Amino acid sequence: MAQKSNKEPYTEPYRPQFHFSPEKMWMNDPNGMVYNKGVYHLFYQYHPNSMIWGPMHWGHATSKDLLNWQHKPIALYPDEHGLIFSGSAVLDKQNSSGFGTDDNPPLVAIFTYHDAKIKAAGGTGFETQGIAYSLDNGDSWTKYNGNPVIADENSIDFRDPKVFWYEPDQKWIMSLVAGNHAQFYGSKNLKDWDLLSEFGKDKGAHGGVWECPDLIPFKIEDTNKEKWVLFISINPGAPNGGSGTQYFIGDFDGKTFTTDQTEDRWIDWGTDNYAGVTFSNALEDETIFLGWMSNWQYANETPTSTWRGAMTLPRKLTLEPVGKGYALFNYPIEKVDDLISGASPKRLNIAIGDEQSISTDSLMQSEIRFATSSKDFQLKFGNEADEELVLTMKTDGNEFTLDRSRSGKTDFQEDFGTNIQQMPIPDLPDREYEVRIFMDRSSIEIFLNKGHYAMTAQVFPNEDYNVLKIVNTSEKVLEFTGFSIGAVKGVW
Ligand code: FRU
Repeated sequence: MAQKSNKEPYTEPYRPQFHFSPEKMWMNDPNGMVYNKGVYHLFYQYHPNSMIWGPMHWGHATSKDLLNWQHKPIALYPDEHGLIFSGSAVLDKQNSSGFGTDDNPPLVAIFTYHDAKIKAAGGTGFETQGIAYSLDNGDSWTKYNGNPVIADENSIDFRDPKVFWYEPDQKWIMSLVAGNHAQFYGSKNLKDWDLLSEFGKDKGAHGGVWECPDLIPFKIEDTNKEKWVLFISINPGAPNGGSGTQYFIGDFDGKTFTTDQTEDRWIDWGTDNYAGVTFSNALEDETIFLGWMSNWQYANETPTSTWRGAMTLPRKLTLEPVGKGYALFNYPIEKVDDLISGASPKRLNIAIGDEQSISTDSLMQSEIRFATSSKDFQLKFGNEADEELVLTMKTDGNEFTLDRSRSGKTDFQEDFGTNIQQMPIPDLPDREYEVRIFMDRSSIEIFLNKGHYAMTAQVFPNEDYNVLKIVNTSEKVLEFTGFSIGAVKGVW
């Protein structure tokens, strides 16, 4: 595989060039994402001693723009209460916890302790919630000496606290999962928590355990309406197998989340966007999401060399009116545009029954973008090894599919290449809509209609894809406007 530069590290085969990945070793969920004093903090589930999941720590990285990252020392280590599982972080502006001062309010991390010994012995109550604080903008952390702050001796999967400040009641709200449902807790000081309500035993997808909740308010553009969206990651039970993130649109009154949603909704239909949540304290009107680009089906077996795991592109979330209701859109933040060069948009017309091949060296690190009103075409990424990643848009069945069965290395795990990933697109407009694709060495992220529909998947070609074939599968001339393939600059 061609190497981008000889700058070490970050030149290994499959190493993402414009996505976050840890310097070395294993990473899963994004944790503790918080913005403070011009710095975005990303913490993450980290196993510093191995390429496979194991005793969890919180790794740490910082960024000023969500694209260029600086690796920082490990923030949280396991202690006598257990390993450090997923959670969140907040800026405690009013120093409600008393960990800081009015002049120097603390960052507070809220996370799950996982006691592997109790679990191995078949006990319950092995997951509890703990907190830690930092007075130097995330450089060093002190665990609270009253930990754990929430425990339930009968629980089993009781984790992933996501906390936000609820202005109307001047209190903190925590979303937490408890096996097959979510729970909401309230607190005035981040230390003492009361259970407020439960949600979801009889709502949404239940093919697996609920994980990584996030409850997020959205302003509806041009109205003064507010809606709340609850994210719940689920594993297994995602529409294309294994792990995925569902969402509920509803209302929250400071105590209870309610929804009249009856259908299952997914933020991303690909196999590789899991455990994603949003930044706390982000700049006004910005709801920014990062997900882990993998799937528990095969996360431990992907063929990378010195590290394992990467995050999605930072995506801006909006709630948009669609039909009689709303849909969650997720789309790369605008800053990503600054990384793109060499895109020279042109019109493409492909005759009935015809196809067009475009050869380019930069496909592995590219943005492909166009608009079309056609819903019958294929995009095939190919290489000299006769491998192919196939994207298909079809009106028959009204769906978009991704087939990676012949995309390269697939046999490291039986589920990786077997199924064609399907995304129903019932609300994709009939008029022209945008197709935007990012490929970054071992991942592809596809956004239809500005993030109305998203699909994220890992791929491991044995050689660089260097041909993009566009196939007209319709009964009409296929028209793409503003078609471009741009090179995306690496950030490492
Ligand atoms: C989600 C998850 C979380 C848990 C963490 C452990 O991927 O299973 O529920 O806190 O990973 O690493």
